[in-house]
Amino acid sequence: MALVHVTRRLTDGGTDPLIAAGHEIVGPHLDDSPLTAAELNEAAANSDGLVCLLTDRIDAEVLSAGAAGGRLRVVGTAAVGYDNIDVTTARKLGIAICNTPGVLDATTADLALLLILAATRTSTLAEDDLRHGRWTGWGFNTHLARDVNGATLGLIGYGRIAQAVAARAAGFDMEILHTSRNDTGLPGFVPTLAELLGRSDIVSVHVPLTESTRHLIGAAELALMKPTAVLINTARGPVIDEDALVDALEAGTIFSAGLDVFDGEPSLNPRLLTAPRITLLPHIGSATIATRTRMAQLACQGVCDVLAGRTPPNQL
Ligand code: DGY
Repeated sequence: MALVHVTRRLTDGGTDPLIAAGHEIVGPHLDDSPLTAAELNEAAANSDGLVCLLTDRIDAEVLSAGAAGGRLRVVGTAAVGYDNIDVTTARKLGIAICNTPGVLDATTADLALLLILAATRTSTLAEDDLRHGRWTGWGFNTHLARDVNGATLGLIGYGRIAQAVAARAAGFDMEILHTSRNDTGLPGFVPTLAELLGRSDIVSVHVPLTESTRHLIGAAELALMKPTAVLINTARGPVIDEDALVDALEAGTIFSAGLDVFDGEPSLNPRLLTAPRITLLPHIGSATIATRTRMAQLACQGVCDVLAGRTPPNQL
């Protein structure tokens, strides 16, 4: 039996693998507040495994505390993205990291479609008018937006989530393009980001956050997009330069945007809140009960596997 610190409250059944393996579970705080940096260090120093969320910063300090404590063997993050974890340091220290690939693709793709529809049809604006008493009746020329059906969708990155978006978009009779670091050899592959941006009516971002994807979409890239184009981000906020995006929306050099993720979230660049034709959601891409439970269980199962001396398929 090992001791596993779970940093935040998971959905019901989320820790089942830990319980089934007979591990002792410590945490989370009764009020589900996040662990402070000092508490994270202490948890790492005194546990065999950690189960964390994408909001926990598992940096070199936390990992070194774990190594110094002499117990920490594995960190399971209940997320597919792991830009909050210093994986390089973890490798050096021999601490395994597990994430949750494959279990949230469909749910996140559903949300991307929601944003594609909302941003392209500017439904947030329309609903806002209704809620605030500005709707004076059916108008032939009001709330005119753009069509999703028949549009060209450009996917940046072509991993599992992007492919799930493509499958859904096909149902809307969209032409689907994608670009990625390596030639996928698949229909719709476009070799350069610039070409994809120039050809797409709707651009959706599906790359992880790394040093090479930070501000992948900045002023220069936005300038390549059509003035009628829509930009969607369900990946990670810093992939888009938010100030450049707001500039483009304000200047009308792109049509609209839909964002589920933000640079520095949960703090928001205040310009986003007043930008025209933008739909904003609070990082809910994977937020269904079933998907969050699968994510929690997969992270916990990875921790159990490592503690039992096995290499789980979801180990980075
Ligand atoms: C992830 O798992 O990385 C997602 O952003 C959660 O919705």
